[in-house]
Order: sequence, then structure tokens, then C-alpha cells
Amino acid sequence: MSPFRLTRTLPQDAASAALRADVLTGLTSTPKWLPPKWFYDERGSELFEEITALPEYYPTRAEREILVARAGEIAEATGARTLVELGSGSSEKTRFLLDALTGLRGYVPVDVSRSALTGAGRALAAERPGLDVHALIADFTAGLTLPDTPGPRLVAFLGGTIGNLLPDERAVFLAAVRSLLSPGDTLLLGTDLVKDEQDLVRAYDDAAGVTAAFNKNVLSVVNRELDADFAPAAFEHVALWNAEREWIEMRLRSRTAQTVKIRALDLAVEFAAGEELRTEISAKFRQEGIRAELAAGGLDLTHWWTDEGTRFALSLSVVR
Ligand code: SAH
Ligand code: AVI
Repeated sequence: MSPFRLTRTLPQDAASAALRADVLTGLTSTPKWLPPKWFYDERGSELFEEITALPEYYPTRAEREILVARAGEIAEATGARTLVELGSGSSEKTRFLLDALTGLRGYVPVDVSRSALTGAGRALAAERPGLDVHALIADFTAGLTLPDTPGPRLVAFLGGTIGNLLPDERAVFLAAVRSLLSPGDTLLLGTDLVKDEQDLVRAYDDAAGVTAAFNKNVLSVVNRELDADFAPAAFEHVALWNAEREWIEMRLRSRTAQTVKIRALDLAVEFAAGEELRTEISAKFRQEGIRAELAAGGLDLTHWWTDEGTRFALSLSVVR
């Protein structure tokens, strides 16, 4: 079995301070909101994996189709010796890259979810003797630093997770990624594409209710971590397309007027009947828009691949 290391770059007390700060800011704002990174405790990571297998949720299948078709070209274009993956989750699709990157020495999955990292890291280390797997529990939006590993480095950010950042957060994030790269390093970015509204909304409001459970899981996280008394059944899952911003918004709509106590913050939060709490945006992209965002961050897009149905794109960028 090859080595598997797990490093927490974000101390546990810093993560819990960040949750407290986000909940205090978000739930005292008008309109109320919470950042999507808090979905992903062990249950949230499991629910996300269930989402990826739903008939309505096309992004995972579309991105896998591109990886299967293009992993060889990606390997040739990057010659990567280290693969860093941000928001790696189960690392399931990553296997196509690991197979194709024949000169690869190390894999650095980065995620806030300890359970996702340990599950994926142990399986990969057992499956691939010789691959050095060094997993990092870290927030990719908060001053990420990487271990000293052999170059060239390929940083992969798959799944369309960049779309869960707001536009100004994306600008800061892309500049930070650029600062981690040296000449010869590359960024492989998965972006979901603008498409028919009905297909988009269905992907975020599935018939089996798995996405609704995923959305409400953030309430369970706040209950457990901050001693709150959210009743998930008192909220309704909402998914809508914001045509002006070209993003899906997930919200939780209060079914009644209610007061929620967050004891660890000594806070009582009032919800009016029908009031909505925004829990996620999932932006959808066009080639020219993401090319411009990359360029503003100091990255030049060199390759653009889509699936047959043009639902999803993978792009490769180099440092300028
Ligand atoms: N890349 C995988 C998983 C996508 S789900 C795929 O394509 O299927 C999004 C992943 O990003 C989750 O595993 C979640 O825990 C992680 N994540 C979300 N916000 C994060 C943040 N700010 N820092 C690090 N990881 C984050
Ligand atoms: C992780 N991320 C890209 C997913 C998305 O599609 O925005 C999270 C998700 N939210 C609802 N379903 C899936």
C-alpha cells in the first residue's frame, strides 16, 4: 500500500470560528444567507454523492464523459508530476486523470470534508501503490498553501464547484490559484454551462427529494455545531433560475412565522412566513465569460472541451 497522509491546515477552532462568524453575519442579514461550504459534513458529503447519481443531475455524467474522452490530451498538454485537486470530494472522476498522467508522482486532494478525504484517500492509496497521496483538510477560499511537491503541477477544480462562489469571490479565488502556480503549471477547471431553464431547475429539484435533503442538511450542521433548534421540516426546499445573473439559487423557505434559537451565539433569529434563506448559488457559464474571468486572474485559457450535449465544459489554462 502506498503512503496516505492527512493534514489539517485549518485548525478545528478556526473552522468553528468561521462557522460562527458566517452564521452570525448571514442570519442577521437581509435577505438571510449562508455559504454553501457548510453543507459538507459526513452526511452532506454522502448526500452530494447520491445527487451525482440522480437522473436529473447531469453535471457529473457530462464531466465524466469529457474526462474519459480527453484525459490523454490533458496528460500530454500538462505533463503533470503533481495533481492538486480542490474540492476533491470522493475523487471518483479523478481516476481518469490519474490513469492518464503517467509521470505523476503525487496527488494532493484538498477539501473541507474530512470524511470525504479519508474515504477517497485510503481507497486511492490502496489501489495505486507508488502514488503519494497527501490529503489536506483546508478551505480553498482562505489562504490556501500547498506542500512542496515536484512540478509541473496540475491544479484541478472539477464538478462546477467554482460556480458556488459569487463573482467577486471567484475573482479573489482565481488570483489566489494563480499565485500558487509557477510557469509550466496548469489549471483544469470544470464549469457547468448555461442551458434550458427547465433542465437546470430539474437538476436542483429532483423528484426523489435528495437535493432537498442536501439543502436542509446545513440546518442540521448549525444545530449540531452551534446548539441551534432549526426544525428542517419547517422549511421548504426552493430551487430557481436567476436569468439575469445566470445562476441557480437554492433557498430554504420558512413554512410559518417562527423563531430559531442559536444558543452558542446567544442569538434568536426571526423568520416571517414565506421568508427565504439563500443557501447556495450555482453559476452557469459561457466560454467568453469564464475566459475573461481567468484572464483577469492572470490565467490564459488554452483548451476548451465539452461533452457531446454541450452541457458542461472543461478548460485548461496556463499562467501568463
Ligand atoms: N469534485 C467533486 C466534488 C464536488 S462537491 C466532484 O466533482 O464530484 C464540492 C466539494 O467541495 C465537496 O467535497 C466540498 O466538501 C468541497 N468544498 C466546498 N467548499 C469548499 C471550500 N471552501 N474549501 C474546500 N473544499 C470545499
Ligand atoms: C458542488 N457543486 C458544484 C454542486 C452544484 O451543482 O452546484 C452542489 C449541488 N447543489 C445542489 N446540487 C448539487
